Amino acid sequence: MVQAKKWTMVKHFDGFPKNSDFKIEVEELPEPKDGQVLLEAVFLSVDPYMRPFSKFAMKEGDVMIGTQVAKVIQSKNKAFPVGSHVVGDCGWRTHSICDGKGLTPIISDWPKDLSLSLALGTIGMPGLTAVYGLEEVLGLKEGETLLVNAAAGAVGTVVGQIAKIKGCKVVGSAGSDTKVAYLKELGFDAAFNYKTVGSLEEALKKASPEGYDCFFENVGGPSSAVALEQMKNFGRIAVCGSISMYNDTAPQTGPCSHLTMILKQIKMEGFMQSRWQHKHEETTKRLMAWVKEGKLKYREHITKGFENMPAAFIGLLKGENIGKAIIAV
Ligand SMILES: NC(=O)c1ccc[n+]([C@@H]2O[C@H](COP(=O)([O-])OP(=O)(O)OC[C@H]3O[C@@H](n4cnc5c(N)ncnc54)[C@H](OP(=O)(O)O)[C@@H]3O)[C@@H](O)[C@H]2O)c1
Repeated sequence: MVQAKKWTMVKHFDGFPKNSDFKIEVEELPEPKDGQVLLEAVFLSVDPYMRPFSKFAMKEGDVMIGTQVAKVIQSKNKAFPVGSHVVGDCGWRTHSICDGKGLTPIISDWPKDLSLSLALGTIGMPGLTAVYGLEEVLGLKEGETLLVNAAAGAVGTVVGQIAKIKGCKVVGSAGSDTKVAYLKELGFDAAFNYKTVGSLEEALKKASPEGYDCFFENVGGPSSAVALEQMKNFGRIAVCGSISMYNDTAPQTGPCSHLTMILKQIKMEGFMQSRWQHKHEETTKRLMAWVKEGKLKYREHITKGFENMPAAFIGLLKGENIGKAIIAV
């Protein structure tokens, strides 16, 4: 018998999540049956999507949704031997019984000097999101100018670096001077702190007076409308996220950018990385190769201790992380 700890959502979040919305519980797990495995979490991910998804994918009392890297500690499923590691959507749990469906084995030649936590970040879902947004949605081409916001986060850092690999000019915005310094270290051509620039319009114009071909949108809200005005004719916008709106209690209205979209003939497309699931394996290999070659650098914001998961999640929504927010059990 194994005792599993799990974090449940006591109440649907009202505005910004608070500690009292979460409860830690303990449950005894049975022995795995034929076809099943017993997993032990090693690294867990907190991601912005958990906030909007909690509204429609969860009921009060449910275990918080989420992905983890876990070690197989008992197995009655030949595909997942004891000692191997997997990525699974097990939620905020220290231990889980699974039948193998939805588990992705960590690739067998994962380098010893790379933390497995990267399978939740740069070489995982956020990295895949960056590639699909740039290649499938924006069709980014060499020599173009790209804008990305929430640029110092899990997705944004990969977006900017891949755009540099592709020979583009990259402008990023982030919420602190430390983040801006990190973006410059990563090779961004220009970066600014959106909280202190005063005029976002002026900051965007200064960073790229000729405007932007592509905009990788992670934030949403009024700042998007300002960025949209700086697009070139036939500009493309990939709507990846709208984190500035996830904790809103009332829907935001306007400003409406339709006229600019018409006059500049701008294309805007929302996307979810899961659309290209059939390409995950091949794309993961490309991300891994860039990391190994030193072309794709990464940083992680590690919180130690499963008991600190709510604090890590709240911290992510407040912008405390540089790079991927990870919980090490
Ligand atoms: N479509 C998809 O398939 C997909 C997949 C993964 C992620 N996403 C989206 O991509 C975005 C980035 O995700 P991530 O995992 O890389 O998270 P992240 O950027 O590592 O962390 C979130 C960051 O968002 C910024 N932020 C928080 N509140 C903000 C606000 N009110 N205004 C502006 N920025 C704010 C903070 O950075 P600052 O300090 O810079 O404010 C924070 O560090 C999110 O919107 C997420 O929902 C979409």
